[in-house]
Amino acid sequence: MTQTIAPTPRIETRKGVLIIDSYSGPLLKLSEQLLQIGCEVATSFSLSDAFREIAESHPKVVLLNLKANPEESFEFLEKLREAGNTTPVVVISEGLSTETAIRVMKLGAYEYLPLDANPDKIISVVNHLVKDSKREKALGPISSGRERQDYGDYELIGNSPEIVEIAKLIGQVADTDASVLIQGESGTGKELIAKLLYQNGSRRDKPFLSVNSAAIPDTLLESELFGHEKGSFTGAYSRKLGKFEQCNGGTIFLDEIADMSLMTQSKILRVLQEQEFERVGGNHTIKVDVRIIAASNKSLVKSIKEGGFRVDLFYRLKVVSIYLPPLRERKEDIPLLIDYFLKIYCNECGREIDGVSPEAIKQLKAYPWPGNVRELENNVHTAVVMCKERTLLPEHFPVLSEKREAVKINLDEIENDYTRMFNDIITPNFDRIVNISNGHIYQHLMSAMEKALYSMALKHCGSNQVKASELLGVSRNTLRDRIKKFGLF
Ligand SMILES: Nc1ncnc2c1ncn2[C@@H]1O[C@H](COP(=O)(O)OP(=O)(O)OP(=O)(O)O)[C@@H](O)[C@H]1O
Ligand SMILES: [Mg+2]
Repeated sequence: MTQTIAPTPRIETRKGVLIIDSYSGPLLKLSEQLLQIGCEVATSFSLSDAFREIAESHPKVVLLNLKANPEESFEFLEKLREAGNTTPVVVISEGLSTETAIRVMKLGAYEYLPLDANPDKIISVVNHLVKDSKREKALGPISSGRERQDYGDYELIGNSPEIVEIAKLIGQVADTDASVLIQGESGTGKELIAKLLYQNGSRRDKPFLSVNSAAIPDTLLESELFGHEKGSFTGAYSRKLGKFEQCNGGTIFLDEIADMSLMTQSKILRVLQEQEFERVGGNHTIKVDVRIIAASNKSLVKSIKEGGFRVDLFYRLKVVSIYLPPLRERKEDIPLLIDYFLKIYCNECGREIDGVSPEAIKQLKAYPWPGNVRELENNVHTAVVMCKERTLLPEHFPVLSEKREAVKINLDEIENDYTRMFNDIITPNFDRIVNISNGHIYQHLMSAMEKALYSMALKHCGSNQVKASELLGVSRNTLRDRIKKFGLF
């Protein structure tokens, strides 16, 4: 049944807002405010009426209360999309969830907003859409038969605004072929986002392959990605297909991309531009259709400045850019993540634990989580194993227990140790250092120390760059840069 609220009995062509809600639904309260900003408002209490209304009256915006009827609402969005209708639909729901965010955006919703006490955000989005008559939702291709959702195994837990925005973006871009660059500190969930993009995308029936540039030595990475011809280098006893060929039609996840050599970067750039490459040692050009998702926990902008990353590749990769904020900046996600991991590990370890004590939650929320979600997950796992009661207490979590203090004291001791060592070296030589200085002691000393350190680390690791960069705790591009700078061959 459709009921029209003043001032006009019917929506004129592309002028109004159509509200879809139940009889006493909360969205109806917005009518007054919308009228005040000059919008004509109509309401519809059934989705089938609304569908007809949209086709006949072409409202400019549709406000849909999801809570009224979630499953039917999803079908409604799908039907609109299949009918090629481009009217922007703003989906409103009481609480936001990442799963619904992905789902409604994938079904072509224009926005997904919370219904909270202050409806200003909803009013401003509607106002914007009503004024801007050209803005219509972009319709992606309707995928044949694969639209029915199988959400697979991966779940994005969290309800912080940052995570809900990321979920919306996943829903928006999963079905496209656009390359995606995911950046964020270690353990924030970059690989999980890559898998969610794949799981929700139209290529999910094709392979998903992952390559970690930091884990594979330079010399092997190129062959791992692009394959090689028989005899192309010592040990190449037969032809090998690379990851790009293996996942033709699918998705490749290039992890730790900042560690990739400039040569390999240029080959990736060519794949992005021309969808083609040659195997190592081969001259036959191979065409592929692969979607690229890349991730880095190091700043690519910094790598570009240091000359370790190609700027053109950076722009090609970040057609869509996702930044995962560290866990300490979205603390409201912590209790949800704890609950989630608690269920998983109780199940895995066959334990029955009711929950976490309020004191433990308080302390876990106050902890800065330098290792982000991965560190939290490991802590919950340990806590489940250690707990003999039915409630997890602070002492069950390694980061909250005294053992952590021991680690901290240890780290302080290491730092003091270094200071003592340098005191021993510099003190007897300090007068000489002052004598030969030309007012740049700091710069000369640091540079000399850096050169000595890189040279010793390389020697210690038998010139193995992967091991030396791990020993020093720097990226391989930084190591390569210093080798060149100091002439350490
Ligand atoms: N929002 C989240 N919801 C559920 N699980 C999460 C979330 N974020 C991260 N995780 C889990 O935390 C662990 C670490 O995540 P992931 O491996 O994706 O991090 P990463 O950013 O790739 O880390 P690194 O840079 O060290 O490779 C995984 O087990 C992942 O499933
Ligand atoms: Mg990762």
